[in-house]
Amino acid sequence: MTRLIDTHAHYNDEKFDGLRDELIGSLLGGGTELIINAGTNLDTCRSSVALAAKYDGIYAACGIHPEDCGKYGDMEFVLSELKAMLGHPKVVALGEIGLDNHWEDPPADVQKKWFYAQLSLASELEIPVIIHDREAHGACMDAVKEFKGVKGVFHSFSGSAEMAKELVKLGFYISFSGTVTFKNASRVLESASAVPLDRLLVETDCPYLAPHPFRGKLNHSGYMTYTAQKLAEIKGVPYDELCCAVNENARRLFRL
Ligand code: NI
Repeated sequence: MTRLIDTHAHYNDEKFDGLRDELIGSLLGGGTELIINAGTNLDTCRSSVALAAKYDGIYAACGIHPEDCGKYGDMEFVLSELKAMLGHPKVVALGEIGLDNHWEDPPADVQKKWFYAQLSLASELEIPVIIHDREAHGACMDAVKEFKGVKGVFHSFSGSAEMAKELVKLGFYISFSGTVTFKNASRVLESASAVPLDRLLVETDCPYLAPHPFRGKLNHSGYMTYTAQKLAEIKGVPYDELCCAVNENARRLFRL
């Protein structure tokens, strides 16, 4: 069995308090090859970098999430802190960043200001981005079209098959989480089938989005096999071939 790379996890989340080290040890000693741990604000970016420094098998991503950007007054300071963290040898991406229309706070114009500023920073540093797009598909497309040189991944993808195809043309990778195994997954499966094998990634987004039959439970990288199994089925390839492809894609995009 091919060991999988989890391209999006949050092991610094407090839900892992008390079991973090034992769990990470058993995952990396078992079926998980590598983990990219994504920060969402300055504190969780710092704890992501600390996890990456502690474990050979963990890399970090640092960025300000759309839900977290409203709490900072001084953008210049935050961007300079981020820039310093992005210089760490185990930080492989700027993320997660993006737009989230599910909640009205912070307002859309504030989220956009932070998203564009961080896309600009990614362009300057030539580092891949990890994009969070929740109910903001059109606005996220507009943003990535404005920063043509910036490449990366749309994580836990929820857009249409048409959008996936357009992103692939723009050079993006598309990552799928446990949501492909949910009962109401027909739309996301249609999108997954539209993504070529050499642009597909898998992730947990743990502690959230545990795949069926663990939906609603604490998620971890060990459950990614269920997601990969479903994607192999949809792409019509053997499980091991799917795993090798997504791992190779992760290594290429994040220069692991
Ligand atoms: Ni996430």
